[in-house]
Amino acid sequence: MLKTIVLIGMMGSGKTSVGKELAKKLGLAFIDIDEEIEKKYQVKIPKIFQTKGEFFFREIEEKISCKLINGKPGVISIGGGGFLNKKIRSKIKINAISIWINTSLDKIYQRLNKSKNKRPLLNYKNLKKSIKEIYDKRKPIYKEADYTIQTKSDNKKTIVENIIKKL
Ligand code: S3P
Repeated sequence: MLKTIVLIGMMGSGKTSVGKELAKKLGLAFIDIDEEIEKKYQVKIPKIFQTKGEFFFREIEEKISCKLINGKPGVISIGGGGFLNKKIRSKIKINAISIWINTSLDKIYQRLNKSKNKRPLLNYKNLKKSIKEIYDKRKPIYKEADYTIQTKSDNKKTIVENIIKKL
């Protein structure tokens, strides 16, 4: 693999678990951008949003993502908003292969409903609507990914096989 593979898509789409499995299968290192941010700042993402605001989060997301996308080829899972950032998106387009994990909104809802309050952008009082609104807004940009993997209830191994077929 000469280029880094970046998994993009909605919160709860399974980027991290699929990314880990894909990296294992390809014998590459795996990086989760949100985890890197939490490690560097020693604080959880919701706390960053709460104390410093989304703008600050997006700035550090941009800095860390751009640096890691330029690093050694590997598999990277990027936060759901990462690909919306023009600078990150163009770095990905130039240096990496992007894969949109387009998981059904029902599945995303099931997952996010189980892990309440981990995603500061969601309105958990009306979670379905909140997911749909964010998805509809982001879809045209997610579509710019090099490849799309459509998934509903596939397990991560099947998703990884489908990614490898596309590559
Ligand atoms: C966000 C997604 C989150 C995290 C932050 C913002 C987004 O990552 O980066 O809460 O804007 O969609 P996951 O996609 O890994 O949940």
